[in-house]
Amino acid sequence: MKLKLSRSATSTTQIQFITKEDAKGITDFCGESGETEVRYDKKSTMIYCGLGEKALCNAQVIRSASARGIRKAIELKRDGVSLVLPSQKLRVEGSEKAAVEGVLLGSYSFSKYKSEKPHAVKTVEITGDLSSPDLKKIETICGGVNYARDLVNSNASEITPEKLAQEASALSLSKRIKVTVLNEKKLKQQGLNLLYAVGQASPYPPRLIIMEYSGNPKSKQRTAIVGKGITFDSGGQNLKPTGHIETMRLDMAGAAAVLGTMKVLSELKPAVNVTGVIGAAHNAIGENSFFPGDVYKSYSGKTVEINSSDAEGRLLLADTVAYCHKNYKPDRLIDLATLTGGILLALGELVAGVFSNDDELADELFKSGEKSGERLWRFPLYKEYCDAMKGDLSDLRNLSKFKKGYASSITGAAFIKEFIGDVPWAHIDIAGTAFNEGQARGEIPQYGTGFGVRLLTEYLLK
Ligand code: BES
Ligand code: ZN
Ligand code: ZN
Repeated sequence: MKLKLSRSATSTTQIQFITKEDAKGITDFCGESGETEVRYDKKSTMIYCGLGEKALCNAQVIRSASARGIRKAIELKRDGVSLVLPSQKLRVEGSEKAAVEGVLLGSYSFSKYKSEKPHAVKTVEITGDLSSPDLKKIETICGGVNYARDLVNSNASEITPEKLAQEASALSLSKRIKVTVLNEKKLKQQGLNLLYAVGQASPYPPRLIIMEYSGNPKSKQRTAIVGKGITFDSGGQNLKPTGHIETMRLDMAGAAAVLGTMKVLSELKPAVNVTGVIGAAHNAIGENSFFPGDVYKSYSGKTVEINSSDAEGRLLLADTVAYCHKNYKPDRLIDLATLTGGILLALGELVAGVFSNDDELADELFKSGEKSGERLWRFPLYKEYCDAMKGDLSDLRNLSKFKKGYASSITGAAFIKEFIGDVPWAHIDIAGTAFNEGQARGEIPQYGTGFGVRLLTEYLLK
């Protein structure tokens, strides 16, 4: 899709935003948010996107309306449309950005495995108050989101740990990114035994991937973003049942968000320093699978009893964050992981859970969530939750001592906390938000959502 800026709308198909108040002049259209209406006359097609009450309108309402508008244009098989940006009098912060994001994110569809490709709108003419550099920035960020979506949606047999490493290596074409990959032999040699164990039964061996982006040599400050990259989660010996296993190619969505964000950094070249780290493994069942009940020594030295091979994300992250902490010494560390089904029960597919040992970091991330539309809600990490992860046979256990399923998202986070040291850290559980099993809603498409790229770029670039 090509975007161009224009002073006035010249296309015969136009996407227009209308509040409930302004819709009064249009017959049989109320302008409710969520409502989209098409009107034709001899020369033109108007796609009206309802914003609801003016007083309640915010950037999220506009983003979502705009996404519905562009999908309507696709349905009508238009090649070019004009997007009329919301007028100044609406007074919504970031309304222009949200409208353009809606178009770029809402027009996404994953058709790699379809014989018949869906219609694509080729050009969108944007009319309103937006500068060319701002437009470029929005396009780059949405490009990162759609890239992350493609990675999640593609077959697990294609997106292997080595493939994730190749994707990272492609970023090193940018002079500001240095990529290091530890293969399975190195992981074993260096004692990343938990990460190794999770990946050991697969014909696609595990990898640790490190991408160092240095955009500000004058600053010593560095943020690490860490992603869970389970390229398929069968559950291992604690095999997942039918009904739960089919979507488990999504389990590398944290890694996809990190790759998408690093890609955005490599293109925008902001003056920040960020280390992207991915622990990548295929949690397979097979003759070489790791055994539930066994105790492993982690990279940090702490020993862990494996109570379930399906709680593999925290094992992989334990070694990944400990390795990052020891060897790269970031000033703060944010991990993104499709860690628990429990977060879906708590927050559904709309909001991700955040867990942190640092109020300021949690606060800043919360604000970035509100601003980007990728929203977060914080959970507590009280001592009792951390105590529930202490082992009898070993230092730690990978399932809590609580009743099955109780506080599973919090105890999962409490486990990772044991490997963080004293660095300000936040864990974001994206098991609910990373994947949409239903139909598209607003800017969120069916299947992989790319959750995390907009949130992280908002946080890192602010
Ligand atoms: N990858 C899953 C979590 C998940 C579930 C992601 C549903 C997306 C949708 C994770 O590895 C897992 O299996 N978690 C278990 C943890 C439990 C054994 C403590 C879970 O949530 O059931
Ligand atoms: Zn699992
Ligand atoms: Zn998993």
